This record gives sequence, C-alpha cells and structure tokens, in this order.
Amino acid sequence: MGFVEVAKVSDVKPGNSKVVSAAGKELALFNVDGTFFVTENACLHRGGPLGEGELDDGIVTCPWHGWKFNVKTGVSPVNPAAKVQTHKVKVEGDKVLVEV
Ligand code: FES
Repeated sequence: MGFVEVAKVSDVKPGNSKVVSAAGKELALFNVDGTFFVTENACLHRGGPLGEGELDDGIVTCPWHGWKFNVKTGVSPVNPAAKVQTHKVKVEGDKVLVEV
C-alpha cells in the first residue's frame, strides 16, 4: 500500500510514544532521540497498548504487565523469541509516514 501519514513530527517528542492508526491498524509510534520507530500497538502478551508504554533508551515497557520490546527491532530483550512486527518510517517535512 505504501507510506501513509500517521502524525506530525511535533506530536511525539523524543522519549515519548503515541498510539496511531494507519490503514485500519493500531500502531505504536516512538521517538528515540529524534528518530521515529513504529511497531504494532498490541503487545504479544495480551494485547496491551505498547504506544502507551514507558519508553527508555529505545525499549518500551508494556503498561499492562511489563513485557519489554526494542522498538527498533521489535525483539524482546528478555525473550529473543518474542518479537512484535515493526514498520518502516520516514519523515517528510513535518509529517511522519509509516509503511503499511
Ligand atoms: S499485555 Fe503487555 S505485558 Fe501483558
């Protein structure tokens, strides 16, 4: 389908995250030191909203039961077999676009 706009650059400050939607899917948008990353919003454990989790040094902690995922790779630093899907992101001007 290609890239679709999900947010403005100013919507998500470094160290923060946001739940966004694209093509009918809920995604989690993260700003790690000025670089944006996107994963599926639903946590692998029980579907908790990763976009509402705590982001620390590129690792998001699910707000429901504390599972952790590297937002760049989607892989859990605790259990390498657990991986959430990631999406490509690009910034054009003040827009954040995600590949869906
Ligand atoms: S739903 Fe994410 S840790 Fe349980």
